[in-house]
Amino acid sequence: MNGQDPVPPALMLRQLAFVMRASRALYAAAELGIADFLAGGPMTSAELAVKARTDPQSMRRLLRALVAQGVFEEPAPDRFRLNAAGELLRRDAPGSQRAGVLFTAGEMRWQLWSDFLESVRTGQAAVERAFGKTVFERHAENAEESALFSQAMASFSAAISAPVIAAYDFTPFRSIADVGGGTGRLLADILAANPAAEGVLFDLPEVVAATPPLLAASRVAERCRVVGGSFFEAIPAGADAYLLKSVLHDWDDARSIAILSNCRKAMAPKARLLIVERVMPETAERGRAVEAYLLDLEMLIMTPGGRERSESEFRAVLSAKGACQRDRGRTRLTRRSSGRVGRDESLVEVTQRCLHCLNDPHPPSPRLRRGKPSPLPLQSAGEGPFFEPGRAFVEI
Ligand SMILES: C[S@@+](CC[C@H](N)C(=O)[O-])C[C@H]1O[C@@H](n2cnc3c(N)ncnc32)[C@H](O)[C@@H]1O
Repeated sequence: MNGQDPVPPALMLRQLAFVMRASRALYAAAELGIADFLAGGPMTSAELAVKARTDPQSMRRLLRALVAQGVFEEPAPDRFRLNAAGELLRRDAPGSQRAGVLFTAGEMRWQLWSDFLESVRTGQAAVERAFGKTVFERHAENAEESALFSQAMASFSAAISAPVIAAYDFTPFRSIADVGGGTGRLLADILAANPAAEGVLFDLPEVVAATPPLLAASRVAERCRVVGGSFFEAIPAGADAYLLKSVLHDWDDARSIAILSNCRKAMAPKARLLIVERVMPETAERGRAVEAYLLDLEMLIMTPGGRERSESEFRAVLSAKGACQRDRGRTRLTRRSSGRVGRDESLVEVTQRCLHCLNDPHPPSPRLRRGKPSPLPLQSAGEGPFFEPGRAFVEI
């Protein structure tokens, strides 16, 4: 043990192996709505058990375990109350994390993570083995799961809106499109902070069908056009800025390139593409980017080839796998001293590499014709210049 490493290795392994229990306890509290029951004031475990229809002893054991983890407090024996973390488990609390907890630690994850080892062995997403379809195809058939996903994404995005708005000057843009923008949390916050701008919220039809309440509550509905469609087909043209937040990490390189290709087609020459994603370090280090690495495993089980990427991996995708001859190699990570939310996210502004490419129809790659048929309009590696990361990656 040295000065920087206060946890003995055996204890560290035990703690890591135990984390699942904390995750399930938190999920149970969120599912049972305990925080909502406590909103009116402290209660005993027996009172909570009646409200939540659980076994009283088990309720007490659950509550004590959560208090020990920092969720809820027990100010006197068998009296439980909300603390700051407990407040955020309330359904309607500002910045509520309840949907995020249900989504991250709920039954679907439990089922899919039990099959994790097979994904490591084969590289195949557990979701494909379990359901025979992608998670988004499943959402299209399951309104409840789709709504939970959108609520969870909105709660994660709420935490990132302020750092994004602080990190980037949106005032030059008259129109801002959020591609794969979910129910519009980030776009609504950007529009609220930029009253002269208009917005386009673009996502799958069944997802945007749920957006009006959020846009109306943020008082930006009249400045925001809502468009349903697939980013593998076409993206609404003509915006000055395009946002892609937490979208590329859902897809493998070929599909990410297809999405970027459609963004480029939609963009006018001076438009900007703003990518907000976690950026993994090139080399793993203890304690660094922990959430990004774990989320990368989540992408392994949940998505068709999705992954968290390092800066060099983003550069490879943005420049169609390094095909560009004029790569100036100036992209670098710039650490900002303020505004980080501790989730390893970065924002990168991307400009079109060269204007003539915009109008040049790119013939389908001969390599693609020889390759496996794909339902997606893939642009293969080596097809030509793609995008230029025009500004440094900025950690937000
Ligand atoms: C991880 S979520 C991110 C949502 C939002 N950008 C955010 O950060 O909160 C990915 C989004 O991509 C959308 N999506 C998936 N497939 C799509 C497609 N083919 N066309 C358009 N949007 C799609 C999903 O509905 C979802 O809202």
